[in-house]
Amino acid sequence: MKNKQMILVLDCGGPNNQVLVKTIRELGVYSEILPQNIPMDKLKVKNPQGVILSEEAALGYGKTYPEIASNLRELNVPVLSVSYDVPVVTYALLGEVQQTNDGRALLKDFLFNSCHCQGDWTMDAFIEEQVQAIREQVGDKEVLCALSGGVDSSVAAVLVHRAVGDQLTCVFVNHGFMRKEEPERVQAVFREKYHINLVYVDARERFLSKVAGVTDPEQKRKIIGTEFIRVFEDEAAKLGQIDFLVQGTIYPDVIESTTSSGTTIKSHHNVGGLPKDLQFRLIEPLRELFKDEVRQVGRKLGLPDEMVDRQPFPGPGLAVRIIGEITEEKLDILREADAIVREEIVKAGLQKEIWQSFAILPSVKTVGMKGESRTYAYPIVLRAVNSQDAMTAEWVRLPYDLLDIISRRIVNEVPQVNRVVYDITSKPPGTIEWE
Ligand code: XMP
Repeated sequence: MKNKQMILVLDCGGPNNQVLVKTIRELGVYSEILPQNIPMDKLKVKNPQGVILSEEAALGYGKTYPEIASNLRELNVPVLSVSYDVPVVTYALLGEVQQTNDGRALLKDFLFNSCHCQGDWTMDAFIEEQVQAIREQVGDKEVLCALSGGVDSSVAAVLVHRAVGDQLTCVFVNHGFMRKEEPERVQAVFREKYHINLVYVDARERFLSKVAGVTDPEQKRKIIGTEFIRVFEDEAAKLGQIDFLVQGTIYPDVIESTTSSGTTIKSHHNVGGLPKDLQFRLIEPLRELFKDEVRQVGRKLGLPDEMVDRQPFPGPGLAVRIIGEITEEKLDILREADAIVREEIVKAGLQKEIWQSFAILPSVKTVGMKGESRTYAYPIVLRAVNSQDAMTAEWVRLPYDLLDIISRRIVNEVPQVNRVVYDITSKPPGTIEWE
């Protein structure tokens, strides 16, 4: 396999590192971000075509980072220093200072004129490269993948399937807290469209009995997380000797654990994930990609839009959207209300615009009216937020007419609901989920 060209971004405190890396990639050049104190041997292994120092303040380079300066001199590739306090850019090793408002043009000049990059890094090239790499890694061994229906695990599974076909077995655990028709859709896509070996585990009763009577949110998460691992291990054991496990790790997860700027980002709760000490070797084909790149790969591999554009959905699913005790009745109510929300958001063309939009069922009842008679039924809380990374979020100003349609449909179509309210709290002080 030919070695791909790459531009290394060193995190020297610049606030927009990820935007920088994404922009370089959009220009067709693969790029990675690493901490500024990366040792020389690691720097050499990366074999970059050029290095960009992403700095907090202009001209800090050299003074603040004498060690990097000497390493970079030894590496002997073009170096660009970018800072954001004022739009100043320095060709660090050349000592040339430029002030520009057109960062993209300058970046292009650096990539293609200074570093002689070819600009041939595309999603097609990525897929081809990964397929080959996975084949080499796996050989004739067997591979296992825990499918959740989420974007990352779905794209990873299809990519690995393209590489090793029937050597891949996917396990899909239905814990009973999924959205309406989700288990059916996942099975249809993976079995019927891709002919992937899929073990479907109906563990709904098993999970429901475990969470019966539990009201504490963290307790719910713990129980569901633990049970998920048990079920998965039981299924894996039935399959005999398996050497590899596919994980849908993506680049932001990798950055979080390797760079200084990443440490401020909360790692996801990731309940429903698997423990690190499972007896498998890992295949992580998406660990170089940002979320929108994962979506592009998914599209290229033919995954349906509804799967590729899916909003984030918590591992414990509806279990953390039913406030208080979980019962089968409440799950059914919430699933119906949530399906209406989803349908109307899609109809309004807002599915991709909104970070997350969903329904919540609090365990209280209020008085209402139906015809002449009084009702005593549940309210549904509607929540829609926009966010970049789930750390902060702003409630979405949904159009009144859309709110009206959603409210009417829910109270008309879900008999156990007589009221719909809209959560107009941002994060902070609220969180995205109610539990
Ligand atoms: P909060 O509620 O903390 O949510 O503002 C931030 C993001 O994390 C998601 N979330 C979860 N994801 N397991 C997950 O995999 C969980 O237990 C969990 N709890 C919250 C939430 O949907 C939002 O995107």
